[in-house]
Amino acid sequence: MNVSGTRTGIVVKKLPKPLISQSFSTPIFILLLGIFGFSFLFLNENLALAVQSSGVKNPYEGNTQAVEEGAALYKSYCAFCHGTGARGAKGPNLTDEFWKWGGTDEAMFETIAHGRPGTQMGAFLMAEKLNEDKIWKIIAYLRSQATYGDWAQRYPSKEAQKVITSEWKPPAGITPDPKAGEALFKDPNGKAGCINCHTVNGQGGKVGPDLSHIGDRSPEYLLESIQNPSAYIAPEYTPIQIVTKEGKRFIGIIKHEDDYSIQIRTAQDESLIFSKNDLQNKVPRNVSLMPTINLTDQELYDIVVYLLILK
Ligand code: HEC
Ligand code: HEC
Repeated sequence: MNVSGTRTGIVVKKLPKPLISQSFSTPIFILLLGIFGFSFLFLNENLALAVQSSGVKNPYEGNTQAVEEGAALYKSYCAFCHGTGARGAKGPNLTDEFWKWGGTDEAMFETIAHGRPGTQMGAFLMAEKLNEDKIWKIIAYLRSQATYGDWAQRYPSKEAQKVITSEWKPPAGITPDPKAGEALFKDPNGKAGCINCHTVNGQGGKVGPDLSHIGDRSPEYLLESIQNPSAYIAPEYTPIQIVTKEGKRFIGIIKHEDDYSIQIRTAQDESLIFSKNDLQNKVPRNVSLMPTINLTDQELYDIVVYLLILK
């Protein structure tokens, strides 16, 4: 194998020899140490500067005008999924310290510019959508709304722009209990049976999405997801119906498909593989695999407040 070559696209440089070898006599050693010691300090400083200037950084820090423009762009491109004030809806909350893909300027820019494949977060760096400048303005706006660290001070916004988050409240007469919600959620034989289809912190079924961080979404979105699962189905969970040549019918979510075969996962969390030769047809359905479960209001809100603490 050609280690030092560029075959893999990575240039492997040989490490320099140690600067100080043991054959030096002590006085020379001390002299050298002095010189290198100084230059090392120097080097360190340069290095720190280099890292700072090569690290991607938002050019609009402290720019109130940019925050304002970012707010308008956010409204037209992002609010639909991330909610008013970026407090989370279909997409996660972008104002708290929980980041799946990273909360540095560089990571956020990457997420927004190129999207995160395999998720619904698409790419926005395109002529007909956003340019780099506009993306930085949106990030400036998101910083101004941050509820952690000193971001909001570093990206001041006009007072009027601060979102007054309407404190969400359950209906009068209901005091939700997250512990009761958790018990209901996690009981595989209970009336809700959520755990049979959803994983939380490594445990549970795989029919639906992992809910370990679902508390990032808005309470309104969570309520709707439970009360009316088919209102919004993420594309990667679109169910299909398969009819075999023998006339047997199966419903599930596509897990894998190639020219010859198709693999689906059913609502019972079974994985089935079909040879395409054996199929009569396959059609997408607009009814979610998640059933509408008959819960009392108390149970519903118990579960919602439990989900809200999963971050
Ligand atoms: C079609 C819905 C949709 C739109 C529109 C959308 N997003 Fe997203 N976004 C998502 C979803 C869903 C995720 C979570 C992806 C995942 O599963 O990891 C996400 C993730 C993100 C993340 C990463 C969050 C993290 O935890 O690391 C950032 C940042 C982000 N979006 C910013 C934006 C911005 C800014 C816009 C507007 C330019 C935007 N999004 C538009 C749906 C959307
Ligand atoms: C038979 C399997 C099944 C059961 C039981 C089930 N779900 Fe789901 N759930 C799904 C599937 C599949 C999806 C994705 C498609 C959709 O959005 O309808 C989903 C989506 C969701 C979402 C939206 C997640 C997101 O990332 O947008 C939430 C929230 C949710 N379920 C909560 C629950 C709760 C709470 C229960 C129990 C009361 C439950 N589910 C029971 C299969 C199930």
